[in-house]
Amino acid sequence: MIQNPEIVSHIHWIPAQGRNDELRRNDELCGDGELRGDGEFRGDGELRGDGKGSKMKKLPVYVALDLDTEKEVISLAQKISPYVEGFKIGPRIGLKNGASIISKLKSHGKVFLDFKFFDIPSTMLSSVQAAFDLGVDMLTVHALAGEESLKQLAELEKRLNGQREFRILAVTIITSFSNENLPALMQTQSIFSHVESLSDLVIKSGLNGLVCSGSEVTYLRKRYPDAYLVTPGIRLDMNSVQDQKRVFTPRKAIEAGASALVIGRSIYKTTDPVGVCTQLQKELSPFL
Ligand code: C5P
Repeated sequence: MIQNPEIVSHIHWIPAQGRNDELRRNDELCGDGELRGDGEFRGDGELRGDGKGSKMKKLPVYVALDLDTEKEVISLAQKISPYVEGFKIGPRIGLKNGASIISKLKSHGKVFLDFKFFDIPSTMLSSVQAAFDLGVDMLTVHALAGEESLKQLAELEKRLNGQREFRILAVTIITSFSNENLPALMQTQSIFSHVESLSDLVIKSGLNGLVCSGSEVTYLRKRYPDAYLVTPGIRLDMNSVQDQKRVFTPRKAIEAGASALVIGRSIYKTTDPVGVCTQLQKELSPFL
């Protein structure tokens, strides 16, 4: 049963048009964990629907595994791997458990290493090569690293793709920033214009992957129809934004043109992550 009140106390799934098996906006999660209304959230807390998800396309979702132990990470990955494309790991789990976590996760999906490299060009290149050698499928660098680094990274990405599929994503402005809390020296421009100029730099340098918030996806999709746009700051419950500022629902982000979503707490902080994934599949499948 989903128990974490932070995540589920106000579930407002946005129904897909014309589908009668969706959870309605006005459905309420009652004290016993049952969703009243014509949704499918049963008293036992399980989401019924299309079976185990094995027949459905995997969601273009990378689950941010911002957890502390390998046991927690692998146990969650095992449960939800039939539903999602892959898993995102950052320094928290990576440094505590070492690089072996990458190979262990690879048997459950793609591995997205989110260390946001930002350094001199040679260090960035060797870091990316090291991650590739460990089996990473996708990783992040900061667009602010500049043209020289980005161009060399684009060449490296091309070479590595000769061996296997591999993506470098450039982070523009992280989603916990709003125009109000941007560092003072960046406040001469709006977030949007920073995102615009940094994305132009990334694409001009030859990379094609960008991390951007839901509020920038529509614009970036129009500007770069072929880009691979990854959107974090996703919330299933808009009342629970925590430290994020530029948040979007999964459906809105996909409709706006996101290629993949990063979802962390809205999945790993619930006690029924499989239920959340099943619901996401229903919610998103009409748009995939
Ligand atoms: O729990 P939540 O869904 O907010 O997690 C979002 C994840 O995406 C975190 O791991 C965070 O580090 C990452 N991220 C982000 N904003 C970016 C880039 C990465 O929130 N611009």
